[in-house]
Amino acid sequence: MIQTVEIARIMTDLLPKLGAEDTAVIGVNLPALTSRLRHLEDAFPEGVQHSIAIKTNPHPKMLEFLVSQGFGLEAASIEEVRMALAAGCSPAQIVFDSPVKTRNEIREISSFPGILANVNSLEELDRFDADFEGILGIRINPQVHTGAPDLYDVSKNESKFGVPVDMKEHIVDAALRYPVRALHMHSGSQMKNLNIQRGALKELKRIADTINAEAPGKIKVLDIGGGLLTESLGSQTQMEAYGQIVAEVFRGSGYLLVTEFGQWVQDEAGFALSVIEYVLTPNKVFIHLGADFFMRDVYTKARSFPMTVWNGDATQVQGLDKVYDIAGPLCFAGDYLAHGIQLPAVLQEGQYLFIDHTGANTYALWSRHCSRTLPATWAWDGNSMVKWSNRLTIGF
Ligand SMILES: Cc1ncc(COP(=O)(O)O)c(C=O)c1O
Repeated sequence: MIQTVEIARIMTDLLPKLGAEDTAVIGVNLPALTSRLRHLEDAFPEGVQHSIAIKTNPHPKMLEFLVSQGFGLEAASIEEVRMALAAGCSPAQIVFDSPVKTRNEIREISSFPGILANVNSLEELDRFDADFEGILGIRINPQVHTGAPDLYDVSKNESKFGVPVDMKEHIVDAALRYPVRALHMHSGSQMKNLNIQRGALKELKRIADTINAEAPGKIKVLDIGGGLLTESLGSQTQMEAYGQIVAEVFRGSGYLLVTEFGQWVQDEAGFALSVIEYVLTPNKVFIHLGADFFMRDVYTKARSFPMTVWNGDATQVQGLDKVYDIAGPLCFAGDYLAHGIQLPAVLQEGQYLFIDHTGANTYALWSRHCSRTLPATWAWDGNSMVKWSNRLTIGF
């Protein structure tokens, strides 16, 4: 969690650099991101390849930063594969997970050495030629309930993702008949029950072992997906607990393990800033970020974002609290970021609302609704705010 003194440093550096058009700003907290990346590496056994999910924050500079730190990238579309390559990611550290890969897309990636391409169905295997230079994987639906919210639970029986694990015999048979060298599983985002996930990992390993018993050395790579809730870095994190489970399940097995975390990495490494445009009696505050930036939160269940209020001279607005509703700028009734939250009673036009923990699934989901301009992105490097991209008018 970012400290108030650090927010003050960010505001002191940033505010003089903004123009009148900068009614909102998207921020990246690089020191926080770096700590999270190191924590992720340390939590897992050595040799695990972490390919961060591009969909969580696809900013080109973010991808370059992740690659510069030695991380791979997980692409959910051919566009994301191209973005990963443009960011300098080696094909061997790219995972291509689209569930609807076209024949042309498969042709495009077929000469990328070492790219891990996970098929979503056994039918998809026929689209890969024998000369595919990457690693071919089968995505398995573990059919477990890890406590992921319904919307992000991809392991249900009717899920559109992966071959159901109860088709184990078909999976083994297909892996033996096709040039398959990997198995993949992503149980869903925001998993709460790691014990159930432990069972799913063991089943994944059992299937790989069964294939290798028939054809020694055939399955080399196990991609276990992402899916951990965001959390602050403390003494014993969920990520460490998960890393220990992974170490225990796969100890001595010789499989190359790949992960695809998104939200856990990005969420607390991002923040946003908006000018407070109107403060209405009795308690409604209008800002410049709503369902366009906080798409998931406004349309589903809003996360509770830590918020503080700042003056134009970078001093914090303090004093007695009052209860406010935070409304976004879009023209529909449900465009609220929060209801009934406590903020200083003296809110007024021209102050800034600093919203923390906005790094995941926000910029990535920017919506065209009401055609508003995508704010500029700035990155805090611990000393100053560096502009990553300009404001961008949405073209139709
Ligand atoms: C295949 C796959 N891998 C990884 C992720 C990242 O998940 P999370 O952000 O929960 O870590 C997702 C999220 O949708 C996914 O679908």
